[in-house]
Amino acid sequence: MDIEAEVKLEGVKRIILVLSGKGGVGKSTVTTQLALTAQKNGLRVGVLDIDLCGPSIPRMLGVHGHEVHQHDQGWLPVYTNNTQTLGVMSIAFLLANQLTVIDEHIAVMEALKGVQVDGAVLVTTPQAVAVGDVRRELTFCKKTNLKVLALGGGKSLAEHANVPFLGSIPIEPKLAAAAESGTGFADSFADSEAAARFSAIFQGILVEKMEI
Ligand SMILES: Nc1ncnc2c1ncn2[C@@H]1O[C@H](COP(=O)(O)OP(=O)(O)O)[C@@H](O)[C@H]1O
Ligand SMILES: [Mg+2]
Repeated sequence: MDIEAEVKLEGVKRIILVLSGKGGVGKSTVTTQLALTAQKNGLRVGVLDIDLCGPSIPRMLGVHGHEVHQHDQGWLPVYTNNTQTLGVMSIAFLLANQLTVIDEHIAVMEALKGVQVDGAVLVTTPQAVAVGDVRRELTFCKKTNLKVLALGGGKSLAEHANVPFLGSIPIEPKLAAAAESGTGFADSFADSEAAARFSAIFQGILVEKMEI
């Protein structure tokens, strides 16, 4: 790790990578909702969105189109509100007007070079095709020595790969609307099944597996 990165990550207690083999399976939704759940539980959270195929986190957190500014220490994140407890950095802010073709896996490893990632959460849907893509991600994690904390959505694959199954999130139409507007799902629909699942997943990963 270079000295600069070391200084910047000082005080960051846990780093979790959220992956999926395929777009459109709910990776950004899971990331956003877990970040909001963590914030609600009193943590300070940073989301780094390096999804080159669709960096949609800024939209989901209601900061789409915000400008990022350079500081002598690097790019400053955009905060979702003035409590500054949830900060976002997205390649959407940086690549707004550029066409860039980068291998996603190389980009992920490059962005995290020298950073001690505590584990990965893989997101998938139960459909066979998405599960097949996640299987590739599992191989990637194995090759790069990334510990897979849990898998969401693909129970049989999780069992097959001997990775803990974290849980599933039901299809909830209101969730799509909440993600779009940046509303904390757990706040708006606290009594829904999906909100309960996000809280349980948050507890499962961060509190039990990572001892936050
Ligand atoms: N549990 C869910 N219920 C309903 N809609 C969902 C759910 N999870 C995700 N979506 C919607 O599905 C679409 C794809 O989800 P997204 O999180 O953007 O996937 P990815 O980041 O993997 O491409 C989005 O419009 C999102 O709002
Ligand atoms: Mg996405």
